[in-house]
Amino acid sequence: MILKKIDVKQYINTDLYPIDQSGSASESLIASSQASIRADGCVVLKSFLRAGRIEELVQECDRVESHGHRNFTRTNPYFTSDRTDLPVSHPLRRFYDRSNAFVPADNFGAESILRAIFDWPAFSPFIKKVLNEENFYPYADPLADVTVNLAEQGNGFPWHFDTNNFTVTLAIQNAESGGNFEYSPMVRSLTDENYSVVEKVLDGDKELIKTICLEPGDLQIFKGRYSLHRVAPLSGTRKRYVAIFSYVAEPGMVSSPQRAKELYGRVLPIHLERAGLRADSLVD
Ligand SMILES: [Fe+2]
Repeated sequence: MILKKIDVKQYINTDLYPIDQSGSASESLIASSQASIRADGCVVLKSFLRAGRIEELVQECDRVESHGHRNFTRTNPYFTSDRTDLPVSHPLRRFYDRSNAFVPADNFGAESILRAIFDWPAFSPFIKKVLNEENFYPYADPLADVTVNLAEQGNGFPWHFDTNNFTVTLAIQNAESGGNFEYSPMVRSLTDENYSVVEKVLDGDKELIKTICLEPGDLQIFKGRYSLHRVAPLSGTRKRYVAIFSYVAEPGMVSSPQRAKELYGRVLPIHLERAGLRADSLVD
């Protein structure tokens, strides 16, 4: 089969976001995005996709959504086991119902527009500059580098921290209502879990929580490893589709076997081989 080459510039709105150019427009885009990331670990680039091409992304998601792995679990924000030695109010002991689905990355092959965007030579250098990170690598997990999160009525995604350092998400289709993204910026660091403030966020302290409404075509760059975040519950019959492009600070990093099984329904040899090789000391 001969595959038609995907012209990424027909999808990314390079008139608004000239990420493949050098020059003042590109430099000022990077500078303003960096400022937003520095301020609270998040930047949203509205209408990053050309409006007229979003429907093709919706169709791509429609084609593979049946391969989504559905999760019905109770989890704490760290995806770890209960700690009965701690008080019941402690964040490690806050368990929430989670019903969600991820379409694993191996459903987005050479014919995928999403993978073409992820692999476009101008894309990841732009993200790397926005994040101002020296150590920046595409996630090496074959189930998790380009995924689609799908959610339906009654679903959401309760408070959690991401395993990957940086997440880049592209909103493709919203539910009829609900699904706002809520986050508490940079609430933990590599060396401090900051449990006392995390506990306040989980208790709903509005002073600590920001809310954004992502619309189809918007690109969000987010430091989800340090910022506690959730997706508010959805309603209506339409599915919510969000593509996730994942990057990490270490080459070769993959999910733990437990997390791969939970999120994608499968464990590959690479997950087992690399288990326990993480260099940081965070609890997940
Ligand atoms: Fe997340």
